[in-house]
Amino acid sequence: MWTKERLQETIQARMADYLLVIVSNRQPYSHVLRGGKVICQRQPGGLVTALNPVLQAVKGTWIAVGTSPHDRLAVDGNGKVKLPPEDPSYDLFRIFLSKEDLDGYYYGYANEGLWPLSHVAYTRPHFNASDWKAYQKVNQMFAETILKEVGNQKAFVWVHDFHLPLVAKYLREANGSNIITSLFWHIPWPNPEAFRICPQRKEIVEGLLAYDLLGFQIRNHCDNFLATVDQEIESRIDREKTSVTYQNHETFVRPFPISIDFELVSKQAESSEVKERMERIRSEFALGDKKLIVGVDRVDYTKGIPDKFRALDRFLEKYPEYKEKFVFFQLGEVSRIRIPRYKQLNEELNTLAEEINWKHYQGLWVPIIFRRTYMDYLDILALYRMADACIVSSLHDGLNLVAKEYVATRSDLSGALVLSQFTGAARELTDAVLINPYDPESFADSIQLALEMQAEEREKRMRKMREVVEQNNIYRWAGKILSQLLKFEFQEA
Ligand code: G6P
Repeated sequence: MWTKERLQETIQARMADYLLVIVSNRQPYSHVLRGGKVICQRQPGGLVTALNPVLQAVKGTWIAVGTSPHDRLAVDGNGKVKLPPEDPSYDLFRIFLSKEDLDGYYYGYANEGLWPLSHVAYTRPHFNASDWKAYQKVNQMFAETILKEVGNQKAFVWVHDFHLPLVAKYLREANGSNIITSLFWHIPWPNPEAFRICPQRKEIVEGLLAYDLLGFQIRNHCDNFLATVDQEIESRIDREKTSVTYQNHETFVRPFPISIDFELVSKQAESSEVKERMERIRSEFALGDKKLIVGVDRVDYTKGIPDKFRALDRFLEKYPEYKEKFVFFQLGEVSRIRIPRYKQLNEELNTLAEEINWKHYQGLWVPIIFRRTYMDYLDILALYRMADACIVSSLHDGLNLVAKEYVATRSDLSGALVLSQFTGAARELTDAVLINPYDPESFADSIQLALEMQAEEREKRMRKMREVVEQNNIYRWAGKILSQLLKFEFQEA
């Protein structure tokens, strides 16, 4: 089995001559002001959950965008800060962007264009020329920063996600021949029909084909990508090797379902600190002996949060005996709030929660607690550990690590996972209660099934899911990708 130690040994033994550089838009930690004090706060989203332990094991450099004014103050003379705060083991280099660049690259092209384009969630993508310009410019800035960081050293540059597909192309143009590149696309890759909408589709695909290795979450996304390449450009696709040769350069395309540090999460969830937090949360929200259902999502229209609320409404209509017997706690971390569709979603959720609570309330009891303020990681683990059920209802999701985190916290083999069949995770966690979030009727019945499941059945399912996540942990994910990168070294040697 892959462990942090095994990954560390592999890297030390075989990658000692290489610098590992992780590159992403979102930084793993941000310096923010809380209660008059600057603290170094872990950032939301699956990317950070997955990569933080990898870089801790590997000790390299992470390059990402700094966001707060305190981020700027916290970096040293070289633009770096040592992370994570509790056990400094790697460097974060922060790139700072102008308002204009951030608007065009991040809010505009990445999140109003590529994000809705890649997810089947029926939100219209928007593309425009000035956003594209900013997007190219920022991809170029990343490439320049990488070249400075790497210098003449041999390096593996591991880029992440839909914000940065053009980086490898710029590295190549600058003659970065000492660099082996890989990009992991964390979100779904759409089918070629959907991708055709994108005016810059050719440039994006060409950019991606400058990488040596391209990773997607599941086979289906790889297939969609290859079909897109087939449709958009003249190249040679080798279906046996699952590679594409374009302009004399071969790119390997592979599925690597991302994961979490199972062992660590499992251990943390059993700690006395998490137990104390469970008690605190139980009393703070007056949960008493009620059953608890949780949802933990970024507030994003792909996550199906309104559908979850509606299913709970339907659940109470169908099974009114559950009134006052449970509480649904939805934690929603706000992101991308400057984008109108996200503002609209936040308003929709407030109204919906209020209406459902008004419809079903009894005395002091309301069914939905919707909390949008920051909760720290151990509090979230406490929530998972307390929850009789956790609902992940994404309309479409590359993988979804909340599902895996929930399973990892349940060493007591209790709790049931209600999981959308449209997540990448549903391919691995087949013992979850799988749902179609578009169908409130069967969704409501699945909530009932999750709450009423016999202990023996619950344990059996949870045991199986835990085995899957334990085996396919984050170190295996990283180990497989890095082993694949090492093959390039041998090819070239
Ligand atoms: C998804 C994406 C990540 C992103 C995260 C948070 O998980 O795949 O690349 O960092 O969402 O989104 P945000 O825009 O807030 O960084």
